[in-house]
Amino acid sequence: MSFYRICSIYLNKILNICFMINQEISKIIKSRKSIYPKDFNEKKIDKKTIIEILENANHAPTHKMTQPWFFKVFSGKSKQKLLKEITSQNQEMTSMAKEKLNFNFEKTSHIICVCMNRNQGLLPEWEEIAATAMAVQNIWLSCVNVDIGGYWSTPKFTSNIKDFLSLSNTQRCLGFFYLGRHDFVNKRNVKRKNIEEETEWFV
Ligand SMILES: Cc1cc2nc3c(=O)[nH]c(=O)nc-3n(C[C@H](O)[C@H](O)[C@H](O)COP(=O)(O)O)c2cc1C
Repeated sequence: MSFYRICSIYLNKILNICFMINQEISKIIKSRKSIYPKDFNEKKIDKKTIIEILENANHAPTHKMTQPWFFKVFSGKSKQKLLKEITSQNQEMTSMAKEKLNFNFEKTSHIICVCMNRNQGLLPEWEEIAATAMAVQNIWLSCVNVDIGGYWSTPKFTSNIKDFLSLSNTQRCLGFFYLGRHDFVNKRNVKRKNIEEETEWFV
């Protein structure tokens, strides 16, 4: 074990005593950010890594363990098929929007269609959307501190490609998660609001 690693373990132990929650977890959560296709370097992500990421997604919490999420993953030539379907089902898209989508698809290694099963009668829809969103957060967190990044895109047109995605009436597509490799060039960090102003305490 390197000297640096030993120091970082002890430093974390000290910080954990001071802060009471695990500082590594806080660091990971605060380091998560959206990386957009324009910043992808077009290197491919291997399937094993995608499976690892989805395994993390699968550990999201869910009410009544309905585990409503499922994924349809597009890479290689299938991205063009998806793009063709989107543009043919959405005639109103401007040529600029089509070009941008084409650019994003080309730069992206894997496009993950985030899908959800509705368990009508068992749970309200919002709970299943919330659980699926937590699965997405796990995808996002899996990308921290590695050269893989991405973001969740929720365009209107996802509702028009249900047949292409072979989704039944009780299933929904909640958008695309774009995943690609990047060279850590994106220093963008969105400013957060002050949580103390958003918290009311009752004692
Ligand atoms: C439910 C959801 C839907 C989103 N949809 C889009 C989208 O359609 N287009 C987009 O550019 N970003 C989208 N985003 C990403 C947000 O814009 C991004 O998370 C936000 O700007 C904060 O940046 P950060 O992820 O780097 O912290 C979405 C995020 C969430 C949680």
